[in-house]
Amino acid sequence: MSEQQQLLDQLKEQAVLAAGHAYAPYSHFPVGAAVKGAGGHIYTGCNVENASFSLTQCAERAALAAAISDGAKPGSLVALVIYTPGRRAHPPCGACRQVMHELMAPDGLVASCCDGEATRIWRGSEYLPEPFSPEALQQAPDTD
Ligand code: THU
Repeated sequence: MSEQQQLLDQLKEQAVLAAGHAYAPYSHFPVGAAVKGAGGHIYTGCNVENASFSLTQCAERAALAAAISDGAKPGSLVALVIYTPGRRAHPPCGACRQVMHELMAPDGLVASCCDGEATRIWRGSEYLPEPFSPEALQQAPDTD
């Protein structure tokens, strides 16, 4: 088995466990995510919905926030795996892609998996063309 496959299997196992904690009474769409830090530590997250729907937190951003909260350096996370039950590997939402762009390592691996064989894999910035970058904030806004 390749090193990449081992990494994906390891993270999928944790993402499946995290999906088991999902709070998704409105969508009935549980999601789990597991992200690996540069030091090898794995952080997990699940989606957490709310009756005030727009307050819903996605699994990917929950996992990334857990990593940063634990002291992982922004830009250092090496791989993130998303899991949704069923036979389709769902791509991450746009908001999560923007947050991944800022927190994952530039050559980081992102993958989505499910209960079937289907797996989607993105490397580096493949998942988000033309992200909004922190550098933009260093320029004075054009006010005219
Ligand atoms: N969801 C995620 O957790 N990650 C995504 O990338 C897309 C959507 C969650 C949010 C909500 O709880 C449910 O899936 C349906 O949108």
